[in-house]
Amino acid sequence: MDYNNILFELKENIAYVTINRPKQLNALNKATIEELNHALTVVEDDPNAKVVILTGSGEKAFVAGADIKEFAEFSVEEGKLLSAEGHQKLFNLVENLSKPVIAAVNGFALGGGLELAMSAHIRIASEHAKLGLPEVSLGVIPGYGGTQRLTQLVGKGKAFEMITTAGMIGAEEAEKWGLVNNVVSAEELLATCEKMANKIMKNSPKAISSAIVAINAQYREGIDGFVTEITEFGKCFGTEDFKEGTTAFMEKRKPEFTGK
Ligand code: CAA
Repeated sequence: MDYNNILFELKENIAYVTINRPKQLNALNKATIEELNHALTVVEDDPNAKVVILTGSGEKAFVAGADIKEFAEFSVEEGKLLSAEGHQKLFNLVENLSKPVIAAVNGFALGGGLELAMSAHIRIASEHAKLGLPEVSLGVIPGYGGTQRLTQLVGKGKAFEMITTAGMIGAEEAEKWGLVNNVVSAEELLATCEKMANKIMKNSPKAISSAIVAINAQYREGIDGFVTEITEFGKCFGTEDFKEGTTAFMEKRKPEFTGK
């Protein structure tokens, strides 16, 4: 697939996925969602891609939301489909990717942009980032998982505050709320994400993908996360990574994981 709205690069086992519509503050139109879906599916299937760093082009925005110009004339049915397709093609895909996704929040993360960052497993923000779910100021509600994932991350009270006021918070406050893991200067943002990616990549890819399944199970309706943990824990014992990790420990050397 040719990408016109994103940049995609695999370098030293890190997949860099950059939303590249800086003139529209990287707003997520349909074409961008399709391209992100394609790139992330490629990452999922490529054993050389071990961690994803997701960011936006330019200095101003991570992503300023779903593309308002594209959906302004939509009907009820079209609105519902926009939301359902977004969940399936992008936001659930990011959350359930078997490789950790780090969102490098390099500016405005609003509406669908914050929802995208919240789908990622880890969020690092630059000092000037501004985060919010301003949808009710447009007469809609967050439709890419924001009502659920914001509540999971910051609790019901703060989620009500952010969604009903449609206000933005700065990076420092977002860190206090637990909405981002860490805040660094804009210059340090990518290097900080890469440092974290490199730390992650020292560990077993198999165990990491099991950890993602188990952590996400907490939020799945009708699924007992503890039962999922037991299953995933057991599965690890059948992997080459487990043999390598435990053998390396006993031989007092660093493990060399193959992800098998
Ligand atoms: N959709 C489409 N275009 C957008 C956009 C969006 N979400 N956000 C910014 N843009 C465009 C602007 O229209 C403008 O384009 P033109 O120059 O062609 O007019 C360009 O990006 C630059 O934006 P501004 O001139 O507005 O820049 P600013 O610095 O004055 O303001 C901003 C920045 C505060 C982020 C402002 O752009 C803004 O409020 N954007 C919209 C944020 C928003 O409401 N997001 C939620 C979208 S709805 C959603 O996401 C629904 C969902 O959950 C599924």
